Amino acid sequence: MVPELGKATVLMKNPEHVKDVISALREEGTDKLQVISDFDMTLSRFGFNGRRCPTSHNILDNSRVVSEEGRKKLKDLLHYYYPIEIDPNQTVEEKCPLMVEWWTRAHDLLLQQKILKSDIAKIVKESEVMLRDGVNSFLDQLHKRNIPLFIFSAGVGDVLEEVLRQGKVFHPNITVVSNYMDFDDKGVLRQFKEPLIHTFNKNNTVLENKEYSQQLSARTNILLLGDSLGDLSMADGVANMENILTVGFLNDRVEERRGKYLDAYDIVLEKDETLDVVNGILGYILRET
Ligand code: TMP
Ligand code: MG
Repeated sequence: MVPELGKATVLMKNPEHVKDVISALREEGTDKLQVISDFDMTLSRFGFNGRRCPTSHNILDNSRVVSEEGRKKLKDLLHYYYPIEIDPNQTVEEKCPLMVEWWTRAHDLLLQQKILKSDIAKIVKESEVMLRDGVNSFLDQLHKRNIPLFIFSAGVGDVLEEVLRQGKVFHPNITVVSNYMDFDDKGVLRQFKEPLIHTFNKNNTVLENKEYSQQLSARTNILLLGDSLGDLSMADGVANMENILTVGFLNDRVEERRGKYLDAYDIVLEKDETLDVVNGILGYILRET
């Protein structure tokens, strides 16, 4: 059906279920399909040549517009909170207040840097961000076939949009919900817009604008892509969901987290920096293969 599912990076707890959902998505056709995806470490790469790639926050943190002192403080926050974010032994309830703390402290530090709106494009251009191999063809294909893509990100909206723009894949079928910057009339960052989105509140509580899901009420089949267990609630707002296929990238601390990912995601892609499997599935659903 989808030869890419035989790739060594693919893990599935219930391959029969995966097969059934993929068949249903194909049978019901493109008019009923929508894609919901995380951005950082899902559409963007986790690592390259043994080095970590930046998240949309890290793109700002590592740029020249941030002072050395600011950069050090932001790194300290990352080293303190990131292990909590991915800790398989802490509950979401325990993590949530700590994530709010991380995002709030990081955003406060960024606000002190007087970042200019007009600098964002240059900051992204000079960064080491990379999209996963195959993201371009994935996004081009969704656009070509008029399949809506909802990017739900706890990263920085202005930055991730610019990454997509520079990659020439910010197509009109894409809607982004994320943390957006608010600039004053001189174009200086003055605050982040509400509500704050962090790893574990990607759900209805931050989707003020329910219009999107209403507009797409006929698109009851979902392909969901994420890399955190928090990404699984991204489709909660979809009314009358019929079929959902969830694909999770397991990038880090794979041994400890494999069990939980296998329980939570239909397909787990372990240390896979490509969108090969997702493109294989999409091609099959769209009857292109
Ligand atoms: P995502 O929802 O698009 O994956 O974005 C959230 C990621 O951003 C999450 O995995 C943690 C990361 N992050 C940073 O790298 N630096 C920061 O300062 C903050 C607040 C989050
Ligand atoms: Mg992510």
